[in-house]
Amino acid sequence: MATLFTGIKQLLTFAGEASPRAGAAMREIGLVKNAAVLVDGGLVVAAGPRAAVARHSLAKKSVIVEVNGVCLPGFVDSHTHAVFAEPRLQDFSMRTAGASYQEIKTAGGGIISSVGAVRRQSLKAMAGQLAARAVRFLECGTTTAEVKSGYGLSLDSELKMLRAVREAAKLTSLEMLPTLLAAHTVPPEFGGDAQKYLEHITAEILPAAAAGKLAVFADIFCEKGFFTPEHTAAYLKEAARLGLRPKVHAEQLSNYGGTRAAAAAGAISADHADHVYAEDIAAMRDAGTIAALLPASNYYLGLAKYPPARELIAQGVPVALATDFNPGTCPCWNMQFVLSAACTHCGMTPEEALCAATVNGAWALAIGDRAGSVIPGRQADLAFFAADDYRELCYYFGANQCVLTVKKGKIVYRKR
Ligand code: NIG
Ligand code: FE
Repeated sequence: MATLFTGIKQLLTFAGEASPRAGAAMREIGLVKNAAVLVDGGLVVAAGPRAAVARHSLAKKSVIVEVNGVCLPGFVDSHTHAVFAEPRLQDFSMRTAGASYQEIKTAGGGIISSVGAVRRQSLKAMAGQLAARAVRFLECGTTTAEVKSGYGLSLDSELKMLRAVREAAKLTSLEMLPTLLAAHTVPPEFGGDAQKYLEHITAEILPAAAAGKLAVFADIFCEKGFFTPEHTAAYLKEAARLGLRPKVHAEQLSNYGGTRAAAAAGAISADHADHVYAEDIAAMRDAGTIAALLPASNYYLGLAKYPPARELIAQGVPVALATDFNPGTCPCWNMQFVLSAACTHCGMTPEEALCAATVNGAWALAIGDRAGSVIPGRQADLAFFAADDYRELCYYFGANQCVLTVKKGKIVYRKR
């Protein structure tokens, strides 16, 4: 049966080109005041002024849901590490005592310290834990999330993480797209030999993930002390050959060449992009690589420097925003906080930030033709917020303003 969501004070449709939004197009939000959205069969049937939508033949036969607030496309969180067994509270204590990312790594913390518990965890427990986390995403208005492996770092454990995403998807309405991040760091068995571990990944892990259709994307952490731009190029070439679309953790801690390697590999996104300069930005623009910015991790790491969103937008690079939800550098699943950080610390306007968190997030996952906007024919993925004006989503921070979440036309969260 069709559903009519009505009484919407402001609807942001993001109607426009079926492509990632860049430059001034990032500010075109498709604002409709006093709006309604009609959904049927999991898709948007009509969206626009209330009176016009109400005239649709299906509207008369639909269930009516009255919502007094702002309606957006559900957030598309294009970068998460949502599969992990335990929080990293020891890292947190060290960080609050002044230790840096590298100092924590040297002391045995960081990514490696998440590996043991992930390797020991059963697939069932892992999937159950991820499904429980998915509820938190839905409550905050996120309807789609990318989820990476990267804490297993062995054939069995990396595949287990990807299978956990597949199993968890049966337990939740959150749509999850899996990414193989076997090249997150070098596991202890390889004694620091990144080249040897990368050969193992390309010989064993990548082909198994591809054969089992366990991942849509392949990602690598290109950074000093992790993997080089040359490793990145080789890994992404092999990933693409096997049908996994490239993504890169690039320029998070230093300018190291990850962005240019990403662009050269035709990566769909280069993520973090904190330390990018003019030639990195030009390479991304020319390759059509989206910059997926993760300012909540800068916040959590207490960094003064944030990604140069203004420069990226001025140069025509489409910008997406994501949480980077993970146990080490961003224990936050709420995209509303990311909006605040992007506006307050990256100089993005509310319009740009909302575009980056919805339609451009969808393009960073190659699903912009079906998600990320409220247009007839697209998936009915919607998030409703208790607000009079969409800018309140970027203005108030530290709270969850979401009151209702709809995934493929079904109500999957409603604030009591
Ligand atoms: O995006 N930089 C690498 N990966 C994560 C951190 C993961 C972790 O510390 O566990 C990131 O920040
Ligand atoms: Fe990350």
